This record gives sequence, structure tokens and C-alpha cells, in this order.
Amino acid sequence: MPSRINSVKTSYFGKGAVSLLVPELKKIGVHRALIVTDGFLYKSGAADYVGKALTEAGVAYAVYHQVQPNPTVDVVNDCITAARLLQIDLLVAVGGGSAIDTAKACSIVTANGGRVEDYEGVNKSLKPGIPIVAVNTTAGTGSECTSFYIVTDPVRHSKMAMVDPNCMVTIAVNDIELMMSMPPKLTASTGLDALTHAIEALLARGANPMTDRDALWAMETVWRHLPRAVRNGRDEEARTQMAYAEYAAGMAFSNAGLGMVHAMAHALGGHSNLPHGVCNAVLLPYVTEFNAEHSTEARERMPRISRALDLPDGRPYTLVRALRETAGELGIPRTLKELGGVTPTDFGALAELAVRDACMADNLYTPDKEEVIGVYENAWSGK
Ligand SMILES: [Fe+2]
Repeated sequence: MPSRINSVKTSYFGKGAVSLLVPELKKIGVHRALIVTDGFLYKSGAADYVGKALTEAGVAYAVYHQVQPNPTVDVVNDCITAARLLQIDLLVAVGGGSAIDTAKACSIVTANGGRVEDYEGVNKSLKPGIPIVAVNTTAGTGSECTSFYIVTDPVRHSKMAMVDPNCMVTIAVNDIELMMSMPPKLTASTGLDALTHAIEALLARGANPMTDRDALWAMETVWRHLPRAVRNGRDEEARTQMAYAEYAAGMAFSNAGLGMVHAMAHALGGHSNLPHGVCNAVLLPYVTEFNAEHSTEARERMPRISRALDLPDGRPYTLVRALRETAGELGIPRTLKELGGVTPTDFGALAELAVRDACMADNLYTPDKEEVIGVYENAWSGK
């Protein structure tokens, strides 16, 4: 099957990498920017840290700091209004997936017109959005290097998944200076999101040798360094490795696809406003078990995951148990019951959304609604 690899033109890594934006911005010749961030990062000085580089590059800027976790259509519309009023030629996202996805949605709608809802699905825009610099502060969603973005639709209590290379950022920055202060809980949930990206990419229909290479290296690296980064946020080596690993996991899934964990997590997160990484981390062992039972091809690929994670054998049972135990050790609830925010009466509606989610098409086995309800029920009871 033919495959296509999309990647970000320029990416910077390492402590102090934000300063490298100065010559790069001068080169692309932009003049007016909107920094897109949240209230916490605005107050913490992270937006100023990036703003300083913009000023040095001769770029005037304003700050939109109303981004929320799981950004909604309303937040994106506010950002679009600000971008149009200020007549900007650059968006600068400062934050994790929520800030970067808000900037991507704003970029696409500002350049293509219409409403953000028009772009739900695959390849819906006609032209590239306005340029984006993504300064990532978590590790992570991988949003700084993917062709995906997610916007919550509060009317349907669901997350819209957009897959569109036109949304890809122009410059990605992973400066660990901005990641060191991430609290342990956020480090764990975003790190397990990256692990889920790597595992789903390896098991996705669109996997190819290059995405496999990124996915396997990413899962091995997250497995080894995430517990260290959770224990000690100032561990520079662990933070550096996590920054590269979440980027590699992002590259893998952006080009191979995701699967049933993300499809179910989008429905769950849209319903309950729970953090994306936590939804994935809770669901990952149950979906892995389901995929092992229902897809011969998934079962055949799983020993490669087990080897990358240095597990004692390649049996799916051992992998599922290791995923469950590691998430538990990192403070993630073991069941949906423990997680809260949802009850079994919601599972029918969630399954309805999950089977239609853009990520479900990437799963090697296509489950029906009843089967998805069954996996939610297992994740509820811890079966
Ligand atoms: Fe994710």
C-alpha cells in the first residue's frame, strides 16, 4: 500500500531552544503575532519567555490567554475573532495539545473561512492555514508535529477529530526549560498519552517501516524515562528524552494513524471533560486485550511492543498486565469507576460516538457498537 510521510519543516529541541526562534522568524518575515496560551502559562511567565524572542525578532504580539483544557468551539471562535481583528500573520501557541490545537483550528478557519465544525474528519480544508509556531510545554500530545487537532463540541458532548496536513505548524519548539515545572500528575498523563500514540501507531492500519521505527523507539524511551520524570521533574536527562520521545510518537501516529483507544477516549473526554491522557491511560490495557482477542494481525505485532518495553515474554496477557501496573504506579486510576465522571448508563451514547470517530478507522479490527460498550464495561469494572 502506498504511504505518505508529512513532517514539520523546522523543529528545535533542548534547553533554551526558544532563543533559536529569533533568526528563524527573521528569515520567514512575519510582523504581527498572536500568542495563544492559557491563564496559568500566561501568569507563570512562559508567554513572556516566548514573547521576548518575538520582540527580539521584530515581531509585535498580543496574547490570547483563555485556552482551556479540551478546547471548545467557543474558545476557538474567540481566538479566530482576535486573529482577524489584529490582522496577524503568525500564531504562536504556548502550551500543550490544548493551546496548539486551538491555534491549528484558528489557523485553518482564518485561512479557509466557514466554521470550525466544517473541518471535522479527514482533509477537509482546501489551503494551508496561517503559519504557526508551536512552543510545546508538555510531553505530550505530539500536536506540535502532527496533522491532527481536536476540538470539543459542547452541543454533542463530543470531541471532533480533524486530520489535515494543512494544519501542520511551521516551526515546532520543544524547550525543556518550559517542561521542568510540569507537576507529576500532568507529566504522567501526558507521558502516557505519548505511550498510547506509539502503541496505537504500531498497531494502526497505516503503519509502515518508518512509523514503526519511530513508534518502537518512542515507546521504549517513554517506558524508561517517564517514571524518572514523574519522580523528579528537574531530571534534565529524563525531560530531554521524553521531549524527543513524544515527538517521535507524534510523527508515528500522524503518519500511521491511531485506533480504538483514542476513538473511545475522545468520546469519554468530550462527555466528562476528563484529561485526554488519563482517558487513554485507563482505556489502553482494556483495548489492547480486546485487539489481541479480535485481530490476528494485532496479536502478531504485539511481541514487538513487548520487546521494546523489555517485558519477559511476548504474550498479550503480559503486555496488558504491564500496561495496567505501570499506569497504576504513575497514579492513574485503574478503572473508569475509580476515574469518575461517567456511569455505565452513558456507555451506549459514548460507543455511538466512538464507532464514528475518525481514529476508529485506523484500528486493525473494526468493532461494532455493542463490542465498544463491552470494552467500556470491562474498563469500568476492571475485568
Ligand atoms: Fe492522544
